[in-house]
Amino acid sequence: MTGPDIKTPLPGPKAKAMIERDGAVVSPSYTRSYPFVMARGEGAIVEDVDGNTFLDCAAGIAVNSTGHSHPDVVRAIVEQAGRFLHMSGTDFYYEPQVRLAEQMAEIAPIDGGVRSFFGNSGTEAAEAAIKLVRHVTGRQNIIAFLGSFHGRTLGAVALTSSKAIQRQGFGPLTPGVYHAPYADCYRCPVKLEPESCAAECLDFIEDQIFVHLVSPEEVAAIVVEPIQGEGGYLVPPTQFLQRLRELTRRHGILLVADEVQSGMGRTGRMFACEHYDLEADLVTVAKGIASGMPLGVMSARADLMRWPPGSHASTFGGNPVCSAAALATIALLRDRLIQNASEVGAHLMAGLRDLAGRHPIIGDVRGKGLMIGVELVRDQETKARATDERDAVVDAAFRRGVLLLGAGQNSVRFSPPLVLTKAQADVAIDVFDQALTEVAPSGA
Ligand SMILES: Cc1ncc(COP(=O)(O)O)c(C=O)c1O
Repeated sequence: MTGPDIKTPLPGPKAKAMIERDGAVVSPSYTRSYPFVMARGEGAIVEDVDGNTFLDCAAGIAVNSTGHSHPDVVRAIVEQAGRFLHMSGTDFYYEPQVRLAEQMAEIAPIDGGVRSFFGNSGTEAAEAAIKLVRHVTGRQNIIAFLGSFHGRTLGAVALTSSKAIQRQGFGPLTPGVYHAPYADCYRCPVKLEPESCAAECLDFIEDQIFVHLVSPEEVAAIVVEPIQGEGGYLVPPTQFLQRLRELTRRHGILLVADEVQSGMGRTGRMFACEHYDLEADLVTVAKGIASGMPLGVMSARADLMRWPPGSHASTFGGNPVCSAAALATIALLRDRLIQNASEVGAHLMAGLRDLAGRHPIIGDVRGKGLMIGVELVRDQETKARATDERDAVVDAAFRRGVLLLGAGQNSVRFSPPLVLTKAQADVAIDVFDQALTEVAPSGA
C-alpha cells in the first residue's frame, strides 16, 4: 500500500454508515477527532473502508510500534495461537510469559534484579504499581504531576490530572494522591529560563506538599512520566528527573517511571529514562510493547516484589499470544527500529522546526525520537493557546491523508509507527505545512 491517497469525500459512504451504527451502540465516552474507519494497515500506511489510504502518524495512540501487522509479529501471534490461546499465567506456567519477564529484566531501566507483573493495559500496570508501593512501604500516599496521564481505572485516574473531564463525576477517587507541577519548559511553572533552570518547579514538593499536606515519611512513591505524553509531549530538562531521583532517595520514597507512552523504542532509546540516566524503582509499560496486542507490564526491583501469593493477579495478564507478540516486538526494536526512531525522528524534528520558522502559529517543537509534539499558539509573546486551531489542523491533515492526534490543550503529537521512513516523514511535514497554511494562512 502506498499513501496518502484520498479517493472519496471523507467520510466515504461505507465509513459514514459504520459511524452511524457505532453512534447507536458504542459508548459515547470515546473521543473521536475525525471519522477514520480502519479496514487494514501495513507498516505506517492504513486504509479505510472506502479504499482511501493514509499515512499514520498516530499509531493507534502510540501503540503500533513495529507498524501495522508486521509479518514477524503476525507470525509469532499465529504460531502461539496455534499452540494455545490462554492458560492464565497467574495459576499456571508457560514459556512466553517467563521469556518476556526475562527480557524485561534485561531492558527495564532498573538497577539490579527485576521481576515483572503482567496485566492487559497501561492502567492496570499503574494499578499494580500503586498496590505494590503501598504494600511494600506500608505508606499510603502518592505524588504525581499535573498534566500527567496514568490511566482511567479508579486508582490510576486519581494519579491522572490531564483533563478535568477524565475525573468529573467519578469521585471519590483513590485518596492520598497529591500533584506537583511538571517541568513544562515552554511555560515554566516557576517562570524561569531553561538555560539557568535547576528544576526549581520541584521545590513545590518539599516546600509545599511536604510542609502543608503530607509528611515525606508517609509518601510511598512519586510517579512520573519521563516525557509527559497526553499532557502535551513535554520534555523535561535532565536536572528535573535527576533532582527528583535524589529527592525520592533522600526520603525513602519509591520512584515509578510511567513509560507506557514513552517506552519501547519510541524516543530513540528503549526507554525514555535512558536519555536521563534515570534508574527507577518501578516501571510501567504498555502501548508499544506488543505492537497492538493488549499487554501491560509493571516491572520492579526484585527486592521490592515482596507481595505474597494471592495478593495481586489477573486472569488474562501476560496472555501467551500477547507475550509472543511482545517478544517479536522487542526483537524488532532491538534489531533496527529503535535506531530508526532515532534517525527518522531527528529528520522529522528538523523538518518541523523548519516549519516553525515560516508558521508563527507554531510556538514550540519538542520531543525525542518519534515522540514529537508541536505546540500551537495564537501569539508568540503571550503564548495564548491555539486550541481550536490545533483541532482544525488535525482535521485538515486528516482530509489530506495524514493521521495525527492532539496532545494537551493545544499541541499536535507525531507518534507514528517506528518503521516510518524519511520519505514518509517528508510527506507528514508537507501535509502538516499545508494544514497549517489552511488554518492560519497569514501566520497565527
Ligand atoms: C503515560 C501513560 N500511562 C498510562 C496510560 C494508560 O494506558 P491504557 O489506556 O492502556 O490503560 C496511558 C495512555 O494513554 C499513558 O499515555
